[in-house]
Amino acid sequence: MAEPKIVKIPQHVAIIMDGNGRWAKARGLPRIMGHREGMKSVRAVVECARKLGIKVLTLYAFSKENWQRPREEVSFLMGLLEEYLRREVEELHQKNIQIRAIGELELLPRNIQALLKESIKKTAANTGMILNLALSYSGRAEIARAARLLAEACLRGDLKPEEITEDLFRHYLYTNDLPDPDLLIRTSGEMRLSNFLLYQCAYTELYITPTLWPDFREDEFLKALEEYQRRERRFGKISEQLN
Ligand code: IPE
Ligand code: IPE
Ligand code: MG
Repeated sequence: MAEPKIVKIPQHVAIIMDGNGRWAKARGLPRIMGHREGMKSVRAVVECARKLGIKVLTLYAFSKENWQRPREEVSFLMGLLEEYLRREVEELHQKNIQIRAIGELELLPRNIQALLKESIKKTAANTGMILNLALSYSGRAEIARAARLLAEACLRGDLKPEEITEDLFRHYLYTNDLPDPDLLIRTSGEMRLSNFLLYQCAYTELYITPTLWPDFREDEFLKALEEYQRRERRFGKISEQLN
């Protein structure tokens, strides 16, 4: 395959990794086999993003709503996450990757909370790519939480309501200092956000591919980036106003 030229690298790419269950079903396998195969795509995409110099990669790995799935599937996903953190963090650390996590992490099993904390601490000073894991994440819950934190600051007298601006508000989100995603990729063809980064995606470019997550590897990722660089981001202006 001819190497596509990626000249306009997005700073922040967010991915809704969807379609593991369907990938397995199409092969007559149990859903969990799709999740296992999907881990290989995680490895491939993380490595490709790092090599390209993407600053932030946010992966939607588990939504708050996903807690409602059958208990065995949830346990399997938690097991995979544990395995990933145990096996891969050392290598991510060697590669100067900084690990972060967003979502209601307190709902995760204790051992995973501990592993996550350890991984985040270990990699905190790394200056390469930020690998941001969305776990037990809900965009609406994140926005409601920000409102609650702001209300508490006002009640304490630390803040006046008229001081609440868009810029202040964004710092109360889990993503705090991270730039908004430039590109949001969703695999498996579903045309929805499924409660992902609702505030942050105001002007994010959307790329939806029918490819299922376990089949989404480096070549598919490069295809998404190629498409991204052909987009004109106008942010409400007209073409002629852009330089
Ligand atoms: C995405 O694949 C992984 C998670 C949501 C954890 P799915 O498990 O949603 O796969 P489909 O959408 O059922 O095919
Ligand atoms: C979104 O996928 C969540 C993740 C990929 C982690 P879902 O499969 O849960 O989304 P819906 O239910 O199809 O909207
Ligand atoms: Mg799905």
